[in-house]
Amino acid sequence: MATMKAVRIHTHGGPETLVYEDALQPEPAADEVLIRIHAASVNPVDWKIRGGYGKDSFKHHLPLILGWDVAGTIEAIGSQVEQFQTGDAVYGYTSLYRDGGYAEFIVAKTTEIALKPNSVDFLEAAAIPVAALTAWQALFDTAGLGANQRVLIHAASGGVGSLAVQLAKVKGAYVIGTASARNADFLRELGTDEIIDYQATKFETVVQDLDVVFDTIGGDTQERSFSVLRKDGWLVSIVSPPSQETAAQHGVRSSMVGVQPNGGQLKEIAALVDSGKLKAYVETVLPLKEARQAHELSQSGRTRGKIILQVVN
Ligand SMILES: NC(=O)c1ccc[n+]([C@@H]2O[C@H](COP(=O)([O-])OP(=O)(O)OC[C@H]3O[C@@H](n4cnc5c(N)ncnc54)[C@H](OP(=O)(O)O)[C@@H]3O)[C@@H](O)[C@H]2O)c1
Repeated sequence: MATMKAVRIHTHGGPETLVYEDALQPEPAADEVLIRIHAASVNPVDWKIRGGYGKDSFKHHLPLILGWDVAGTIEAIGSQVEQFQTGDAVYGYTSLYRDGGYAEFIVAKTTEIALKPNSVDFLEAAAIPVAALTAWQALFDTAGLGANQRVLIHAASGGVGSLAVQLAKVKGAYVIGTASARNADFLRELGTDEIIDYQATKFETVVQDLDVVFDTIGGDTQERSFSVLRKDGWLVSIVSPPSQETAAQHGVRSSMVGVQPNGGQLKEIAALVDSGKLKAYVETVLPLKEARQAHELSQSGRTRGKIILQVVN
């Protein structure tokens, strides 16, 4: 059987558990495609799973290939696949329950991918799926953010936040974003209407009556977020389930969102990218074999935009 280079973990733990080595090349089932990966992006969930997060629910078989956010070209298609052809340039977010994309190849369901935006290279395309789908599903599908509504986006400079700001602007919302002072210019470039330096100012002292808060931080930031919403406003978190009791006390709605693969939404997102309305910011590009360094950087919590692992030069 054919082999490929991949970064795998054989045990849960720190960055040192990431091993660059040979692995078996996967084969597509009838409803799957085999993608030759050009680039994979690093998301915090990668190092969380590396450390043991969700061990009991995912029940991964080790060794496991991490990284589920990819862009590449279709190398082979399963017998039932009609929507894609060999050679198509695609991008996607694949199920966390299977092997990921820190590798030369990955198999994906056709429902998990879309044609990559034409106007960007594979590095930028790989930066988009998880972050954009997360923002889309939280802001639009869950909180129903609409035109002229006011939304507070925490960590607007991060991978998810930087796309969330732009998607909210596409909807016609008024966007307030938090970040540290060093990211103020970046937030302005993204189109943020109002910027709060979370290290200097408590956001709840300067904003109130908001329609939506997008919580990408959790903990104390989430708890303080309830009070800045209008009645029936939405607190949507991607980090931890908000207390329903506290939500009821404040008369607001709240929910935790776990991003789901969605090729249909990726198609709409690609159109926004190609029309110049959405852009992913790539802060760091490292070769696949430097995945350990990429995880250390991501875990620092200071990433502006995205970190990318380049598989094909
Ligand atoms: N539920 C889901 O489906 C889902 C999907 C995607 C992500 N997530 C989770 O969402 C979180 C964010 O993901 P991400 O990829 O956006 O992370 P990220 O890119 O690593 O976020 C880094 C950014 O966070 C900012 N930041 C750190 N602490 C902050 C604070 N207290 N207030 C405001 N900004 C702060 C930093 O800005 P400064 O340097 O200026 O502080 C930095 O730019 C992670 O925990 C991730 O696991 C969940």
